Amino acid sequence: MSSSDHFWTGTAVVTGAGSGLGAAMADRFAEAGMSIVALDIDGERAEQQAQAVRDRGGRAIAMRVDVADPAALEQAVAAVREEFGGCNVLCANVGVQQFGAIDKLTENDWRWVLDVNVLGVVHTVRAFLPLLRKSEGVRRVVVTASSSVLVPGVRMAAYIASKYAVMGYGETLRMELAPEDIGVSVFFPAGMRSRHLESSRLARPAELGPSVLAREDIDVMMASRKVDTAEHVATPEHATRNLLAELAANERFIVSHGAYRDELVARCDDLIAAVDRAQRA
Ligand SMILES: NC(=O)c1ccc[n+]([C@@H]2O[C@H](COP(=O)([O-])OP(=O)(O)OC[C@H]3O[C@@H](n4cnc5c(N)ncnc54)[C@H](O)[C@@H]3O)[C@@H](O)[C@H]2O)c1
Repeated sequence: MSSSDHFWTGTAVVTGAGSGLGAAMADRFAEAGMSIVALDIDGERAEQQAQAVRDRGGRAIAMRVDVADPAALEQAVAAVREEFGGCNVLCANVGVQQFGAIDKLTENDWRWVLDVNVLGVVHTVRAFLPLLRKSEGVRRVVVTASSSVLVPGVRMAAYIASKYAVMGYGETLRMELAPEDIGVSVFFPAGMRSRHLESSRLARPAELGPSVLAREDIDVMMASRKVDTAEHVATPEHATRNLLAELAANERFIVSHGAYRDELVARCDDLIAAVDRAQRA
């Protein structure tokens, strides 16, 4: 438990809670005393996560929800209202990965990644916002972007474009909800040992054709981002160790781990230099 735990009351809803980062987030909020709603396209894994919370004495329910399906999210909202009466923390966390060079990514790859990663976040927030607005106590939304937004790499253009959109959406949402005292943070996890590639493959709708995963794409991507040290890859538990404290402080951006500082500074310097050149032009 952290010193900010007394702060967390009510219900935390987490999408993608059946695995990895979402499961770790659910565990953190459960430890802090919140009721948990575990949503995932893999209903069995979501239920296992909810059961694990209940086994430790917490309160939790699970539902199978595809975040690309607004009607399924509306059903989840009704279930949460019925079971717990409110929503205080919303983690729009689902994201799928499809590696591939720019000329190899198909139209279906793009549509699927944008549909789940971008519209999935939009649908999730749109569905739960009325309940969040009515809930008493602390209210927070966290949207999961990626360290690849801070320091891009090759062979994942669809994924990176989608996570830039998540960041833009999250920042706009933060400004729009600030007058209502609902905090919004953009979360940038770095590499994690999770089931991301496997669960992405399983979650891809069959009608889009199979997800192609080439080891070479991963190697070339990692080399382009210099993500070859232990500092860049962590467990989801480690990646969430600072999450509640950052959310309690209503930080605009939350970084989990990773050694990207120098690359990020160089990138920001380039952007500021462009602004300066424009002023002199
Ligand atoms: N793993 C990494 O290295 C990494 C790095 C940066 C950011 N992220 C981001 O972190 C988030 C969580 O990823 P993770 O590593 O925990 O992966 P994970 O595979 O362990 O968990 C993702 C969960 O999302 C579920 N899911 C997939 N499509 C869904 C859909 N349409 N509707 C509902 N649920 C769906 C999966 O079934 C799975 O349980 C994602 O947004 C991902 O893009 C991951």
